[in-house]
Amino acid sequence: MRLTAHAKVNWALSILSRQPDGYHTMDMLTQSVCLGDTIELHKADTISLTVGGEHPIPADGRNLAIKAAVALHETQQITCGAAIHIKKRIPVGAGMGGGSADAAAVLLGLNLLWDLKLSDRALHAIALGIGSDIPFCLTGGLARVGGIGDQITPLPCNETFHLLIIQPCGGLSTPAVFAAYDALPKRPQNPSIDDTVRALSAGGPARLAGAMGNALEAAAIPQKPEIAICAQTMEHYGALRAQMTGSGSAVIGLFETGDEAANAYRACCRIWRRCYQTRTTNYGVTLISDIK
Ligand code: C5P
Repeated sequence: MRLTAHAKVNWALSILSRQPDGYHTMDMLTQSVCLGDTIELHKADTISLTVGGEHPIPADGRNLAIKAAVALHETQQITCGAAIHIKKRIPVGAGMGGGSADAAAVLLGLNLLWDLKLSDRALHAIALGIGSDIPFCLTGGLARVGGIGDQITPLPCNETFHLLIIQPCGGLSTPAVFAAYDALPKRPQNPSIDDTVRALSAGGPARLAGAMGNALEAAAIPQKPEIAICAQTMEHYGALRAQMTGSGSAVIGLFETGDEAANAYRACCRIWRRCYQTRTTNYGVTLISDIK
């Protein structure tokens, strides 16, 4: 079985509070994009993982895909295993939910391969136990995401948005960015998620661009100043707005049309190696083939 595990972008990310367990409650407008990893699953005697593709990632128990398979296996007391292969395209340490998307694809795929017939709700509960971005990746499309990432409100989206995504520097660690956020002398301004939702439903990329924002930028840019330079460069090459996504270090640029994104891509891929032109999609995980 072969699936695509789609990356996500945050049009807007605001931080509401810090819980006693150290996690932050958030309010975000998040959307899946076509850029994704390919996940192959085959029935096997044990659970195993191999990795390939553009970026190196661990192929051991630290990988969220393995954690997802093991969690599903243990909850359901299955005798069969699975051989998992990940072809990595989503940049790593980018704030694009790459590891979470892989885990979501493994949960959805093994639910079919092992014929478990688990409900969305049951998969969601297992997903949240592994990582806070995985529930969104299971749902995919456009959603308002609250809580620590566990409250997903799907929203309709009849438009396709054209983007350029660039990781202009090394990856960032999510806990390190949240720790830097907590240490800021002054809370950065949160974007209004209500405004972003309204802008999106009113339609058109220009309105959306006007409402974008990410409260974690202020914590990440001092660690990686390339993020700010990259956002300015994308705007120079025609992005309506460019900003960091998630906890970084990837930067997303929103364009009026696919042609404009393609022009900027031609200029930016000469400067940065990890440069991707993509567009939004309504799916978090897509099944490409069910050939065993
Ligand atoms: O849940 P996940 O393993 O993806 O989270 C990684 C880290 O990111 C957490 O250990 C925490 O430091 C931070 N985090 C947070 N608040 C969230 C999600 C993640 O502080 N809502």
